[in-house]
Amino acid sequence: MTPSSAPPQPQSVSTSVTRSAFFIVATINNDDASRATVRAWCADVANLTRAVGKRVPSGNLTCVVGFASEAWNRLFGAPRPAELHPFREFGTGERIAVATPGDLLVHIRADQTDLCFELATQLMIRLEGAVTTVDEVHGFRNFDMRAIIGFVDGTENPVGDEAAHFTVIGDADPAFAGGSYVLVQKYLHDMKGWNALPVEAQEHIIGRTKLQDIELDDAVKPSWSHSSLTTLEDADGDEIKILRDNMPFGQPGKGEFGTYFIGYARSPQPIERMLENMFVGLPPGNYDRLLDFSRAVTGGLFFVPSEPLLEALAEREAPAAQPIDDALAAQTASAPAVAPPIASAVASSSDGSLAIGSLKGAPRYE
Ligand code: HEM
Repeated sequence: MTPSSAPPQPQSVSTSVTRSAFFIVATINNDDASRATVRAWCADVANLTRAVGKRVPSGNLTCVVGFASEAWNRLFGAPRPAELHPFREFGTGERIAVATPGDLLVHIRADQTDLCFELATQLMIRLEGAVTTVDEVHGFRNFDMRAIIGFVDGTENPVGDEAAHFTVIGDADPAFAGGSYVLVQKYLHDMKGWNALPVEAQEHIIGRTKLQDIELDDAVKPSWSHSSLTTLEDADGDEIKILRDNMPFGQPGKGEFGTYFIGYARSPQPIERMLENMFVGLPPGNYDRLLDFSRAVTGGLFFVPSEPLLEALAEREAPAAQPIDDALAAQTASAPAVAPPIASAVASSSDGSLAIGSLKGAPRYE
């Protein structure tokens, strides 16, 4: 691929904001037949999404599918997406971004819950007996895109060409161009504690005003605000963005109130750096006070193949057992249960900005 050529068509990573979203995380059963079922299913995803979506053309139904690191080895073997690795945990004690089981992520979005429900049903019928669902969340749009904590969520997202620039892999990994990485976490909130705070204190924690959703002035925005700790810059001072499509969810009858965080990017590094800033702090100890009221109960990192690659994966031969098991063992051994601070893996410039070589200088698709 030349630098100027467009990458293969991505899955529907970047879509308009919808009213409804389903998030399904599943493990793949550990036998050859189950793996063969999942491989064959890769060719069904686009067709099923088209078929269900046709029933309500205005419903904006889309589906994105991703695979976790070890699942990739078992299903498809080599070659592997260059930056795919097991979810890295950050933080300690009460404040920890946990890694939880999950081989497969299905992210379904639409303006009607029935569309999400029907597509999830059809996709899971085809996977019957081959996977075990470990988490399923049905999210909803909350008024004017407010997280369950009452603040507008998604304002600073990149849009259009900028969204593609920050989410679609290009020449940095040619065999996987058109793909993305996606990181998900399910958060549960202490709403009693949060609601007991004065609005001004909440605004300091988020870094924006609550009603009007305006960013606080630097003079009053604390360095531990959510906005400060998740704003990243490269060595040239240009902002590095990710694409989020968080959804509120919950069961008021059971006192459950949550945010399903989902972040797409063309490398896991900026998302991991944000997590480190939030959970460990920048500098360490100066952590995100939103975490005093929010607990991460799941965490997974997945690779999202381009649309043509997803279809082609159906034809992949089952990887030979021995070399892949070796590769897996090597990978697992080198992945600590609790990852070292990403700062040690990602060069920071002297001003504390993020100097990601593979992000800087990569082609823009515009
Ligand atoms: C407890 C779950 C979370 C909630 C309720 C939440 C909510 C919010 C809200 C209300 C905003 C301000 C409006 C906006 O620009 O969207 C925001 C901004 C942002 N959040 Fe989160 N968020 C959560 C978790 C995360 C996580 C885990 C990450 C990254 C790993 C993240 C990354 C960002 C980024 C990059 C921004 C934009 C910052 C800026 O440019 O000012 N968020 N979030």
